[in-house]
Parts: sequence; C-alpha cells; structure tokens
Amino acid sequence: MNDGQALPDYPRTRDLGGDVWSIDTLHHGHPGTIAVFLRRLPRGGYALIESGPGVSRPEIEAGLADLGVNLEELSYLLVTHIHLDHAGGVGALARDAGAQVIVHRVGARHLIDPSRLMSSARRVYGDEMDSLWGEMLPVPEQQLLAVEGDERLELGGLDVRVVYTPGHASHHVSYLFDDGTLFTGDSAGVRLAGANLIRPALPPPDLDLEAAERSVAAMIALKPARLILTHFGPVDDPDGHLRAVPEANRRWERAFREGLSLAEDDGTLERRIEALEDAELAAAGVPTGIAGRYKITSDAAMTVAGLKRYVAKSAEATAAEATAAETAVAEVAAPFPLGRPARIAVLASGRGSNLASLIEAFPKDDGLGQVVLAVTDKSGAPALAKATSNGVTAAYIPWKDRSTFEARLQDLLELHRIDLVCLAGFMRLLSADFTKRYRGRLLNIHPSLLPAFRGLEPQRQALEAGVAETGCSVHYVDEGIDTGPVILQRAVPVEPNDTVETLSARILEVEHRLYPEAVRLVLSGSMSSGAAPEGEVV
Ligand code: GRF
Repeated sequence: MNDGQALPDYPRTRDLGGDVWSIDTLHHGHPGTIAVFLRRLPRGGYALIESGPGVSRPEIEAGLADLGVNLEELSYLLVTHIHLDHAGGVGALARDAGAQVIVHRVGARHLIDPSRLMSSARRVYGDEMDSLWGEMLPVPEQQLLAVEGDERLELGGLDVRVVYTPGHASHHVSYLFDDGTLFTGDSAGVRLAGANLIRPALPPPDLDLEAAERSVAAMIALKPARLILTHFGPVDDPDGHLRAVPEANRRWERAFREGLSLAEDDGTLERRIEALEDAELAAAGVPTGIAGRYKITSDAAMTVAGLKRYVAKSAEATAAEATAAETAVAEVAAPFPLGRPARIAVLASGRGSNLASLIEAFPKDDGLGQVVLAVTDKSGAPALAKATSNGVTAAYIPWKDRSTFEARLQDLLELHRIDLVCLAGFMRLLSADFTKRYRGRLLNIHPSLLPAFRGLEPQRQALEAGVAETGCSVHYVDEGIDTGPVILQRAVPVEPNDTVETLSARILEVEHRLYPEAVRLVLSGSMSSGAAPEGEVV
C-alpha cells in the first residue's frame, strides 16, 4: 500500500540530530505513520522510545541493522503509554534485548499481564486484531520500572525527566531529555512529516480534554527545545505547536457535540468528523498522499467512540461536582444572616482596587454590611490610603512570622467586632488553625475559574494553557490554596493577543462587580441553602 510518491521522503531511518534516530515501523506498508526512536546513551548502549506494534518487529530490526545497532545493545525501552501502536511490541523486544521497560504505573500491570488489554482490543478490532497489531507478549516483571511522572531518571548517563501527561490516556507520560528534546507520544496530537496540521488524537477509553489541556500547559512550562511525536517525528516550533493543540481538540469536540445535539447516530457522527478532518486537511494544503496517512493514524470511528465516553464521563462528573460543591457550601455558610449590618474587614497586600470596590458597595449606612476595617501586611501599601481616604480604619501589621501576625490580626478583628473577613489581593497564606476559626466567615477572590489555575499567576497559567476563557471566583477560604467552596464565579474571554497585563485588567473589572455580589449573597444567608444563584457557574 505504499504510495511510492512519498517514499523517498521517508527513509526507513532518519538522523534527527542530538544522537536520536527515527525508525519507521512502516505499519502495514504505510510510511510516515508510526515511528520509534533510538537514542544513543552517553555511557554506551541505546534507549528506544516506543516499541511500535507487535507486527512491526521485522521493520524495527531492519532499522536497527541499518543503523548498525544490535538488539542486545538496547538497554532501555521507554513507552509513553500502552496503546498497541506505542507498546504492542514492547514485551517481545524487552525479552529478546534484556532491556528495562519504563512505563506509567497504571500501564505497568497491563504490560506484565496483557490479557485484559488484548481482549478489549480484540473487541474493538475483531478478526483483524492479529493482522493489524500482532501479539503482545508480557514484560517480565523484574524488567519493568513503573513511573508516576515527575521523576528524574539517569539512563546510561542520560538525564531523563518523566512528565505526567494524561488526557489522550490516563496513564500517558512524556519524556524530556537533557538537551530539551521532549518525546510527546500522543499528548501533543498527531502532525505528520511534510504537513503543517495537528490532528487531534481522541480515542477511548479514558480521553479527558481538561487533563489534556493541563498536560499541554505542563509541557509548555518546560520550554522544550523540540518535540518528537510518535506520529510522526520532530516539530521545531514546540511552543506554537503545543499552544495550538487545545483549540484543535476543542474544535473536534464542538463538531461532535453539535452532532449529538442533533441526535445523530454513530455513523452520521463519524461522517461529520471525517468531513471536518477533510476540510482541515484541505485548508492546510496537505498533499493527498500525506492526507491519506493522517486517516490511518486513527479513524473517525475511534474519535467518535473516544468523544462519546468523554462526554458521558464529564456529564457524570459535573453532576457529582455540583452536588459536592453544594454540600460544601452549605456546610460552611453558617452564621448569616445576622439580623443587623455585618462588620466587614478587608485584608490586602497591595493596590487595593477590590478593597475600594467593597468599600463603595458596603458604605457606613448599608443595612446588610459595612466595611469598617482594612488590614495590610505591607507598609505603605496603596490599599491603606484607599481605606483612610474613605473614612475606614486602616491597620498595618508587619509580617514577622505567621503566628505573630495571626495573633495580632485576631486581636484587631475582635476589637472591631468583625463578622466577615474578605481577602483581596492578600499575598500571605493563613494557617489551618486560623482558617478553621473563621470558617464560613473568611472569603477570597481569585482571578481564575476555580478549580482551574490555583496559586500564583493564574492569568499567566491561563495564557500558557491556551484556554479560550478564564475568569474570577469568590470562594470560602479553607486550609488549602484556593481550594475552598466557590460562592460565585464569572467567565472572562481570553483574546488572541492577550498579555498577562491585558487579561488581568479585563478580569479585574469583573472582579470589582463579582466580589460585592458574592458578599451580598453570603451576608443575606442565601448561601446557607447551598443553592447556586441562577445563571452562575458554581
Ligand atoms: C486581584 O486580581 C485578586 O483577584 C487577586 O489579587 C488581585 C488584587 O488586586 N487575589 P487589588 O489589590 O484588589 O487591586
């Protein structure tokens, strides 16, 4: 089935530089669809990244022979995940080479005993299973190193960082070598040599688009010098490629959901995905021969099955999360309403624009609540002046250490008979003891749609993840970092040319309205039922 036109561009082996060679598995005679990669190790021997399917063993041996490498010289076999095109042949290779296999913990048990993996694949591929993929032999347990992601391995003098990159599969890892080469398996989609198009890789059973986006963000943060994709080969604009992956996935998901909303059956959904793929291939000017190969890497039926499972699972998860969030909110929303105006304190470390919006929304004569105290841990914080110029008492408590600060803060809150404490750009972590004491009476505003992008620089995190929208959330504070139950949140779009500054400014404007609204909800006792206000994401 080779289409001769492309063969000259696809030699069986290719020197990718940096002591890395690709070997084409020529899967079922198709060049340029599934590769494995050979890396020479500084202290001798080789690592093979991916094993290819079981049926590709002759091609791999021929490739190794081309490169003058014997099977016995393979010391390590690194697989990104256990799908058959990546790891089908790993057991046989490991046995014959005596090499150590590296795989995510969840995949490890299936490599030791591939029977369940094989029977579920057989259900998908039926009679074609053996001719398509071949046999998957078990990996001897003593030759297996299970990883979680986030380890650093030293393989024959080569420093390898294991990066957990779920999404395509829950057990997917990528491997970053010390020269900045990142082997992405399928976590950065499919981009075939000779074409400039990312094809989403969205198979069952555990496709998870949110996890895929977090994985892409993690890979971007590593600033790899180049990516090497199993389908197929090097990508020299890693940042641009990775940033485009989430949108490519979501485009396909949107098309799929549109079909679902029209109650299309599987066949129609598959044709819809095929039509989208054809349109994208044509728009990207992908030559016919290469376009055909894109379709071989994964077909529409697989995509539809993957998206179906994903959509069903996310619907279940959303329902479960909503119930959990309601219960959590109901548990903490204890003391309100008070039957008198609540006395509010705001803690801010810097600019204090949220402090100002709260003072404006809760002035001295408000029946529901009044901001009566502002506290900062930074001398000269502009927030102090914002308070005093509005007739609100302002206090500076230096941060010597957490317990001294909290003791003085508590004295001050008691002195001013404070009912509700609002953190607004307060850049310190309060202790678990303190947050427990103020449970239900301590709020924070965070510029992201929690639980996404907790912690520092959430706007930068959102840009790096390439999401189309982010936002802001007001939540109860618990002992974790931005983990407490959400009271109210609102989405804000990310524009194509956004910088951290432009995005932050757009979010801040929304924060100034959201925080007072959330405080009103809390003070009026509307949260104690645990019910989310209508039309809001909670
Ligand atoms: C806001 O973006 C808030 O969400 C975050 O810190 C920033 C504070 O800004 N927690 P300001 O001091 O209120 O102007």
